[in-house]
Amino acid sequence: AKVRHYNFNVEYFFKSVDCVESLVMGINGQFPGPTIRAEVGDTIQVAVTNKLSTEGTAIHWHGIRQYGTPWADGTVYVTQCPINPGETFHYKFKLDKAGTFFYHGHNALQITGGLYGSIIVDLPKGEKEPFEYDDEINLLLSDWWHKSIQEQEVGLTAHFENFRWVWEAQSILINGRGQFGCSLGANFINHTLPVCQFKGDEDCAPYILSVLPNKTYRIRIASVTSLLSLNLAISNHKMVVVESDGHYVEPFTVDKIDIYSGESYSVLLTTDQNPNQNYWISVGHRDDNVSTTPALTLLNYQNISDSILPSFPPPVTPPWYDVEERKVFSRKVVALKGTPQPPKYSQRRIVLIGMQDVIDGYLKWSMNGISLELPTTPYLGSMKFNIKNAFDWQDPPENYPEDYDIYNPTTYHNSTVSNMVYKFEMNQVVDVILQNCNSYALNSTGFHPWHLHGHDFWVLAYGDGKFKDGDEKLFNLENPPLKNSVVVFPYSWTAIRFRADNPGVWLFHCHMEPHFHTGMGVVFAEGVQYVKGIPEQALACGLTAEMLMNKGDSQ
Ligand code: C2O
Ligand code: CU
Repeated sequence: AKVRHYNFNVEYFFKSVDCVESLVMGINGQFPGPTIRAEVGDTIQVAVTNKLSTEGTAIHWHGIRQYGTPWADGTVYVTQCPINPGETFHYKFKLDKAGTFFYHGHNALQITGGLYGSIIVDLPKGEKEPFEYDDEINLLLSDWWHKSIQEQEVGLTAHFENFRWVWEAQSILINGRGQFGCSLGANFINHTLPVCQFKGDEDCAPYILSVLPNKTYRIRIASVTSLLSLNLAISNHKMVVVESDGHYVEPFTVDKIDIYSGESYSVLLTTDQNPNQNYWISVGHRDDNVSTTPALTLLNYQNISDSILPSFPPPVTPPWYDVEERKVFSRKVVALKGTPQPPKYSQRRIVLIGMQDVIDGYLKWSMNGISLELPTTPYLGSMKFNIKNAFDWQDPPENYPEDYDIYNPTTYHNSTVSNMVYKFEMNQVVDVILQNCNSYALNSTGFHPWHLHGHDFWVLAYGDGKFKDGDEKLFNLENPPLKNSVVVFPYSWTAIRFRADNPGVWLFHCHMEPHFHTGMGVVFAEGVQYVKGIPEQALACGLTAEMLMNKGDSQ
């Protein structure tokens, strides 16, 4: 195993990522940031320097569990203080498993701003994946907005009368490239737009997948969207899904995949079609009332020029309301034989309902009536050093009112803004049932992709309607997939199980940035007394900064 060093300078610069110039938050002048590629067991050291000048930052290594290094999880006010402008923070962590991951900013709306990049972890040399391929291609998917993240943030957190929703993304990006104001498929899908013309060296020229005939490619696909739920399809080609969130799955064949923010997949694609033409790759969204055009690029067989557009229309993204079809896809994802099975029983069950309501004049999300607002002293330090007034130490509710009507706007108006923590016994087996219900407006609901830090979990079931006693019989204890991100469907529930075996403080939240930013998350903690080696810099704000100063006085 190696130690790999990286220097990341986080900075704003101008770039036309979708053919319209705007500010992008990138790393070392690159957008998306540099790819971290390493092997299982390697130690990664990243010196992150904040060159943003007006805002703090931190980088989260999404899907890396941080065993023994909870302080390196990169979550502002959970595991560390924000890295202030001009400062450098030294992350150090070990890669515990192979797979497709990514990193991203974890302060305010910095994902929306463009702060992300890929992490690819290979098996150690000599070890084999349970499938074969000749070559691989990496696709990092995201959505892009022309409105600045400052403007979006102010709109989202304004008093209810002045609240401004972020509305729709202007474009969908494939490896940081999109096309606004033109479309490669304009002749087929949107006759009001011109067909894009590229020389090939533009910032917004599509990322073309060049392949050789009769080979098998592993395509790694990860989504770090701010909001959009995506669907990827390649004309004339099937895909065999083999990995999700860094775990092998029982291979299954599809012609399109749904991918929610926070998830990753690997698919195998065999180039067995007529090599004398190119094929569409289409990444559309599946959201309601959103007209963002799909991102299009080409699967280019190297026999022919990569500028020849197919003579047939690109694949059509299925409509948002086809929830059943989306559930069918999600339920197909099961663990490959040999994957660790979940414990047969759980020791604790937390049922979390995600409600949207106006709380004290602000439109917020809350879980069981608690809208998460992070404290200004990171939890990891305040829990480790027992600082009593750093946050509310009360236990948050484990359930919601039994008579709650999930199909209508809430009548429960007692929600509050808080920063309570769910505290687990070390190694406790925990079930969480995520319950979806009607949002603020009548007949409105949505999809929420939830991500857990510090752990992988088994997805036991996607159930319909309201979870009730006895629904445990629907749990798949045989071959549930291990994942770190999972979607909750409209008016439905999702059940997960995990072992609280990683000392630290961990966020569990909706990965849609505007939702998390308005309260849709909870905080879990276990074994914080065992945490060692928190760097002082991670503590140098709020009440832990005072603690450090007092310690200095007494020396
Ligand atoms: Cu990728 Cu807390 O998220
Ligand atoms: Cu959400």
